[in-house]
Amino acid sequence: MFDPEKFVAGKIREIQGAVGSERVLAACSGGVDSTTTAFLVHKAVQERLIAVFIDDGLRRESEPQWTLDLLNRLGIQAKLLDRSDLFFSALHGLTDAEEKRKSFRETFYRTLGEAVKAERAKFLAQGTIAADIVETTGGVKSQHNVLEQIGIDPMTYGFEVIEPLKELYKNEVRTVARYLRLPRQVSERMPFPGPALAIRLVGGVTREKVAIVRKATEIVEHETRNLKAFQSFAVLLEGKATGIKNGKRVYGDMIALRIVSSKTAICARAMPVSFALLRRIANRVTSEIPSVVKCLYDATDKPPSTIEFE
Ligand code: XMP
Repeated sequence: MFDPEKFVAGKIREIQGAVGSERVLAACSGGVDSTTTAFLVHKAVQERLIAVFIDDGLRRESEPQWTLDLLNRLGIQAKLLDRSDLFFSALHGLTDAEEKRKSFRETFYRTLGEAVKAERAKFLAQGTIAADIVETTGGVKSQHNVLEQIGIDPMTYGFEVIEPLKELYKNEVRTVARYLRLPRQVSERMPFPGPALAIRLVGGVTREKVAIVRKATEIVEHETRNLKAFQSFAVLLEGKATGIKNGKRVYGDMIALRIVSSKTAICARAMPVSFALLRRIANRVTSEIPSVVKCLYDATDKPPSTIEFE
């Protein structure tokens, strides 16, 4: 049985031993993994931790400010790094999911390398968990926050890495977050992938497509808020479908809905949600987003599918 008290006490000692009197930068997206990591490292090294939120232009609505406010409330000094132009230009022209992921990862770590240098830190603390490592080393997909385990030396980017949660799965991370009395908005927060909306639109990444999937995400998350799903989200598909708006033919966008149950993210089941809910989401998505004419439900389990589309 996983014992969060023992885990936290052991990790704090381990972090203190590894870091000594050096400074640590934490990459924090506001999700349960990275926020629990930042909180744990803060407990270990206090004001020698500085957290950064990278605004890559791919986050959910209002997420940058929400995360900064959260970190401030937790007593962690935090900075926002606005790097959206950098991420959009790195992703420009890429359509393959793995190429998009690797380009995101490269830009993410280059940005963090610069921040580590600017803050005179030696370490980067990141919220990598067991599922991220298993999927990346197992060849399922390259998660954005796995480096050493696939033979990339973090010193290439100018830091050493601390990953206090790397042996844990999501359900255990939530147990640690609850034990640390982090707010429910953190401990129960729905997982969101590091490369964010860049991998929730199939094919090339543009600001226009991100805006469409961001709005659809907001609608789906709101309508499914009482479902207790492991994840529920929208994906903008590639290609067009014929629809009718204001009595006229429109060759418009397609949104897919993904609503899954899972414990560890290694396997997942498509949830058998009510048709009334699906119809309500379809109506909202097609009426509130002008370009969308079709909304599809993804009924595939993982495996053979994965949770995300890319
Ligand atoms: P998949 O799509 O592989 O996703 O079934 C499994 C879990 O991992 C999340 N995910 C990511 N998390 N960086 C992350 O931190 C990533 O690059 C990444 N890709 C997928 C996904 O949302 C799900 O919870």
